[in-house]
Amino acid sequence: MKSNVIINADISKGKINKNIYGQFAEHLGRCIYEGLWVGQDSPIENTEGIRNDVIAALKKLSIPVLRWPGGCFADEYHWKDGIGPKETRKRMVNTHWGGVVENNHFGTHEFFKLCEMLDAEPYICGNVGSGTVQEMSEWVEYMTFGGESPMANLRQANGKEEPWKLKYFGVGNENWGCGGNMRPEYYADLYRRYQTYVRNYGDNRIFRIAGGANVDDYRWTEALMREAGHLMDGLSLHYYTIPGKWEDKRHALGFDEAEWFETMQKSLYMDVLITRHSAIMDRYDPDKRVGLIIDEWGTWFLAEPGTNPGFLYQQNTIRDALVAALHLHIFHSHNDRVQMTNIAQMVNVLQAMILTEGSKMVLTPTYHVFEMFKIHQDAEALSVETASGSYEWDGVSIPQVSVSASKAPSGDIHISLCNTDPNNEAKITTQIRGIESRGEAEGVILAAANMQAHNTFEDPERVKPEAFHGFKKEGGVLEITLPPMSVAVIKL
Ligand code: AHR
Repeated sequence: MKSNVIINADISKGKINKNIYGQFAEHLGRCIYEGLWVGQDSPIENTEGIRNDVIAALKKLSIPVLRWPGGCFADEYHWKDGIGPKETRKRMVNTHWGGVVENNHFGTHEFFKLCEMLDAEPYICGNVGSGTVQEMSEWVEYMTFGGESPMANLRQANGKEEPWKLKYFGVGNENWGCGGNMRPEYYADLYRRYQTYVRNYGDNRIFRIAGGANVDDYRWTEALMREAGHLMDGLSLHYYTIPGKWEDKRHALGFDEAEWFETMQKSLYMDVLITRHSAIMDRYDPDKRVGLIIDEWGTWFLAEPGTNPGFLYQQNTIRDALVAALHLHIFHSHNDRVQMTNIAQMVNVLQAMILTEGSKMVLTPTYHVFEMFKIHQDAEALSVETASGSYEWDGVSIPQVSVSASKAPSGDIHISLCNTDPNNEAKITTQIRGIESRGEAEGVILAAANMQAHNTFEDPERVKPEAFHGFKKEGGVLEITLPPMSVAVIKL
């Protein structure tokens, strides 16, 4: 199929907020425990209990922001259980996720250490569902108050003299569901009340994020913006890409082309959701002060056979790489409203960057897309016009290619492209206008021989980026041939 693309290098579409490349780590399955935290006494090499191999790999992604401790876990988490000497920390049951014992060894201090090691901004999600206003307010005081106060004194007694800097704070999670089964008007009132006590101490300024809608619940967005829009900096949105039905999920491996197609189609639905939620937000906030914060997204398949279904551990194929690339392109194109997103989740859960098994770890195809695309972080989005060929399945068609481009502060232009069609290559004539000299071009590509291609502990490099030479450059025109089911980045 043939596609035509025009990149207007002289038309800026604003900055691509680096926080679009954010991540999420919940106390769920083996994300925190085993995936990130192994404890000081582990034979796995660690720094203060945090595993070194995983951190070294994650650092290559330049993760801008990390959301914690949930998810559904956040509305059952009582932060005081996770501070002080480890041996006296309360043990609790993680009722949402597998009914396992949570020993609270990973708490506030450990989370800030993790963020410091990753050089990522912490984004903490507070407990509205089962927590009090006092508990939330004291957590913020514990973390950010610099003077003398009961919570600042407690923090100091636990070995942290100076307060931390905390920018992002979520007031509850999925309050329409696991976070309290509330009606939007009721949650809007609670949001108003709880956020009042999320104080700015000293020069710490908190960006307050209200719990947002599930998928296409526009009534939720409408009520929140109407009742509380003026008291928030961000409003969240959750949408997972789930082929099949929620109650009849499909396998991460062993799927056919019908499921491949449906997965691509459902990824593209993110564009519709953002457009519609943003239209509501525009009515209450025409200056786009309030960010749309998509703090959970990604694929959700059946847990791998033989694993605890409550741990949400799934493999990750070239299909996930396409899902990631399509989403990131959609987020770029809505960078006027979308200020942050957090893929679910960082390690061992849902659409993960990294899978671990004991001391072994493997990088997923999704990891590689985040690594290849990091050049878009905080770069200037360029205007891109795409007339895509189509990928058809069973009488329905979607665009075969998706393209995004940005200009880095160095002047380099990066074009990222993907081909959703698992059978046919894409021929893309790309005209670059609006710049004089374009220099040399070089490329990198993530491709695979079949739809289920993935990395395993035994074969960790089956899907990995390679140098890309499938293009010819003549003056301002690039003739690109993108193999089936691939993601590429070309640098000019
Ligand atoms: O990411 C897994 C779960 O999905 C989160 O805990 C919850 O917020 C959502 O339903």
